Amino acid sequence: MDLVIAGGKRIAARATPRADLGIRRGRIVTVGRISRAERRRAGRTIDARGCLVLPGGVDPHVHFDLTIGPGMTTADDFGSGSRAALAGGVTTFIDYTTPEPDQTPLQAFGARRALADRASAADYNLHNVLVAWRPAWRADLAALVRRGAPSVKLFMIYRDRGWQADDGMLFEVMEHCRALGVTVCLHAENDALIETLTRRARARPGASAAELAMARPPLVEEEAAVRAITLAEATGARLHLVHLSTAGAARAVGLARSLGLPVSGETCPQYLALTRRKLSGRSGHLFGCCPVLRDACHCEGLLEALGAGWLDAVSTDHCCFTRAQKDTWDGDFTRIPYGLPGVETSLCLTWTLGPAAGKLSLARWQYLHTEGPSRLFGLHPRKGSLTPGAEADVVVWDPEARRRIRARDLQTDTDWSPYEGRWVSGLARHVLLRGREVAREGRYTGGEARGRYVPRKRARR
Ligand code: URP
Ligand code: ZN
Ligand code: ZN
Repeated sequence: MDLVIAGGKRIAARATPRADLGIRRGRIVTVGRISRAERRRAGRTIDARGCLVLPGGVDPHVHFDLTIGPGMTTADDFGSGSRAALAGGVTTFIDYTTPEPDQTPLQAFGARRALADRASAADYNLHNVLVAWRPAWRADLAALVRRGAPSVKLFMIYRDRGWQADDGMLFEVMEHCRALGVTVCLHAENDALIETLTRRARARPGASAAELAMARPPLVEEEAAVRAITLAEATGARLHLVHLSTAGAARAVGLARSLGLPVSGETCPQYLALTRRKLSGRSGHLFGCCPVLRDACHCEGLLEALGAGWLDAVSTDHCCFTRAQKDTWDGDFTRIPYGLPGVETSLCLTWTLGPAAGKLSLARWQYLHTEGPSRLFGLHPRKGSLTPGAEADVVVWDPEARRRIRARDLQTDTDWSPYEGRWVSGLARHVLLRGREVAREGRYTGGEARGRYVPRKRARR
């Protein structure tokens, strides 16, 4: 063994037994008691007394280095975003390809990998965004499965950006994905409804950022989620609904699962912790994201959905812009660069809202950030697991640490935080990536980026 993590507790189904962890050459070799003699022989010991020992977090939905329009690229690139992820306890993330109009899915994948390989400090994979469909691309999808990226991502909205998949395209892509064993990730919102309600909202005098929520009420997501599930049932495709913001859509996923359909869903900390009241006031536009923030009843409903097993993962949809970038909205709520930072504060926020508040069990919380997403996206047991043989991505989590979130303490390249001043509990005291310490006390310490692309398997039906 070259490293021992000693004296911590592991989260099991109904208990937190003491578990030392032995690590050799980047993999976990022992989980249980490790004698003092063995510890002495190991190169280094990390003292985890008073802490929980978790698998590294897996965030299945981030956007680093995403350009959403002329001159508007997210503040975090793969370097700063991945360092922020590690500081918060997320050791593996899945980003998205960003196809240019003339690129095939395979070309877009190659270009994105080149970017991420150069800069990522954490391990990663990619979902393949499809903003159009050509029959010849079926061969690309098959090739992407072989390259370990067996998922696509489509948007039911963003017609103005040329990203939208209408129902016909969605149906056709789902048929191909069903045949190839590819998971269809979907941003489910009703574009036509958004357009109509946005027109009405803009006509109101003095339309502010708060109008964003009026133009995109819960119905917009709930209807689209049900429609998407209906199409998935008809085609037999495996469907994953991303960044769910409404209790109704989460319930639709739960119902589909209870009927045995291969449907899953994720929500994000912002939809658990923030409400649409944040959109009011002078800085309201900073909180513009898509889907929009909701009322507190949805925050509660989503937390219940996570606990009930309707949703299988917490992602972050990390997509951050600086104040200056957000300020370009110039009073027009349709021009806000949508998105919020989140990957660095994800674990501590859900810890605070979940286990620390008695609203989620320890095991469920851990599952939602580790095993859940890694199983959904074919990374298990290599990632999201502490069993012998798994890669030694480990978080030594101090459940008692309390602190206030301050943007100035965070590693992301954004100059503000939606959670500024908020008290949270839980802190990643040590974070290991394949057995190497990369973050300590919430700070990245890993030096030169050494993240790797991790191929994924097809999810099992
Ligand atoms: O506001 C967000 N989330 N922007 C990122 C793009 C998306 O729809 O996921
Ligand atoms: Zn989206
Ligand atoms: Zn997203």
